[in-house]
Amino acid sequence: MTNKTSIQDSWASRWIFILAATGSAVGLGNIWKFPYITGENGGGAFVLVYLTCILLVGIPIMMAEVFIGRRARKNPINALSDVAEESDSTKKWGLIGVMGMLSGVLIFSFYSVVGGWVLHYIKVMLTGEMSGISSDEAGTAFGALLADPATLLGWHTLFSIMTVVVVAAGINKGIETATRIMMPALFVLLIILLGYAMTTGGFAQGWNFMFHFDFSKLTWNAALIALGHSFFTLSLGMGTIMAYGSYMTKKASIGKTVLTIGALDTLVALVAGLAIFPIIFSNGMDPAAGPGLMFISLPVAFGQMPFGQLFGTLFFVLVGVAAWTSAISLLEPTVAFLVERLKMKRVTASIGLGVIVWGLGIACLGSFNFMADVTFFGKNTFDFLDYITANIMLPLGGILIALFAGWIVKDKFAKDELETSDTIYKLWNFSMKFTAPIAVAVVLYFLLNPIK
Ligand code: PHE
Repeated sequence: MTNKTSIQDSWASRWIFILAATGSAVGLGNIWKFPYITGENGGGAFVLVYLTCILLVGIPIMMAEVFIGRRARKNPINALSDVAEESDSTKKWGLIGVMGMLSGVLIFSFYSVVGGWVLHYIKVMLTGEMSGISSDEAGTAFGALLADPATLLGWHTLFSIMTVVVVAAGINKGIETATRIMMPALFVLLIILLGYAMTTGGFAQGWNFMFHFDFSKLTWNAALIALGHSFFTLSLGMGTIMAYGSYMTKKASIGKTVLTIGALDTLVALVAGLAIFPIIFSNGMDPAAGPGLMFISLPVAFGQMPFGQLFGTLFFVLVGVAAWTSAISLLEPTVAFLVERLKMKRVTASIGLGVIVWGLGIACLGSFNFMADVTFFGKNTFDFLDYITANIMLPLGGILIALFAGWIVKDKFAKDELETSDTIYKLWNFSMKFTAPIAVAVVLYFLLNPIK
C-alpha cells in the first residue's frame, strides 16, 4: 500500500466510504429500473441471474476500481495513468478515465431529468392531486408532464442545483454530510414502506413473484439485461467508484468493504421490489407495465389505499434521496479532475460542470416535446443517451478496467492493495483476466445484435 494522500479530503471512516459508495450505487437503477425490468422479465429466475452477475462480475470490478483509486489517490484519469506507469505500461490507460468522465456527464443529463420527475411526483403526492385517480388518468397526467417543457425545466434545474451545491461543498462538508443524513433516512423510509407493503394483502404474491425461480421464463435476452444492469446499478465502468476509492482510509480491507457495498445495493433493490410488487398485485395491476410502473401504476395504487397519500409521498421522497446521492457521484470524478489537474477551485469546477450538464439536460427534456423530432439512430436524445451510456460506454469502461487490472497492473501492486488470502486473490485475478471481460463482451455483442 502506498502512503500517498489525496490533495482533497479523505472519508472520516471506513463506514462513511461504504455509505457514500452505497449512496452512489443505490439510485433510480434500484428503485425504478430494477423492479420494472424484473417485472418485464418474469421475476424470480431473472433475479437469480442478476445476483450471480453482481457476485461474479460486479464485485470483482468494483474491487479493481477501489484499489486503483486508493493506490494513486488521484482522479480516475491520473489514477489509471499513474498505476499504469508504475507497472511499466503506457500512460494512455488514462483514456479509460476520459471516457468515464464523458459517461458521467452524459448519464447526468438524463438522470437529472428523471430526478426532476421524481421531485414533481413528491409534490403531486403531497398535495393529494392523485388520490382516487384511474390508471388512464394517471397515464394522461404523466403524458401531460412530459409535454410541458417549462415544468420539466423547473424541476430539472432544481435537481441540478441540489446536486451541484453538495459537490461544490467538497468531500467532507458536502458529500459526507449528505451521506450521513440521507443514507439513514433512505434505510428508514425503505423499512417503513416494506412494512406498509406487508399490510396490503399482496405480499405473498409479491414475494413469490420475485423468489419463485421458474427457469422456463428465463430467456437469453433477460440474462443479458441482468448482466448489463448489474453494471449500472453498482456505478461501475466510469470512474465514480475509483474517485470515491481515492478518498478511502488506508486501513480498510477492500474485499470486505466492497462486499458490503454490493450487499447493501442488492438488498435495496430486492426490498424495493418487495415494497412495490405487493402494492401492484393487491390492486390487480400489471407487474410488466415497464418504465411507467413507478410513475403511472404506483400513484394509482397509492391513490386507492388507506394512508396512500402519506406513503406515496414517502415513497417518492425515498426515490428522490436515492437519485440525489447517485447524481452527486456522477459529477465527482470530473470535478476531482478539474481541481487536481487544472487547479480550479472546487466551487468554480462544480458550477462550471453543472452549467454544462444542465444545458445537456435541456436537450433530454426536450426529447418529449419541442425536440421530439431530433433523433440519433432512430432514438430521441433522452433514449439515445440512456442507451449509449448504460449499454455501451459503462460495459466498455468495465471491460477495459478489468483487463487493465488483470493483465497490466503488476501482481505485487494488486496484492499489496487488496491484502487478501491467496485463494481470494486468485479468484479475483481470474475474474479480471477472463470472467468479467468475457461476460461483458458477450453482453455488449448481444446488446448490439439483439436475439430476435
Ligand atoms: N448506480 C446508479 C443507479 O443505480 C446510477 C449510476 C451509474 C451512478 C453510474 C453513478 C455512476 O441509479
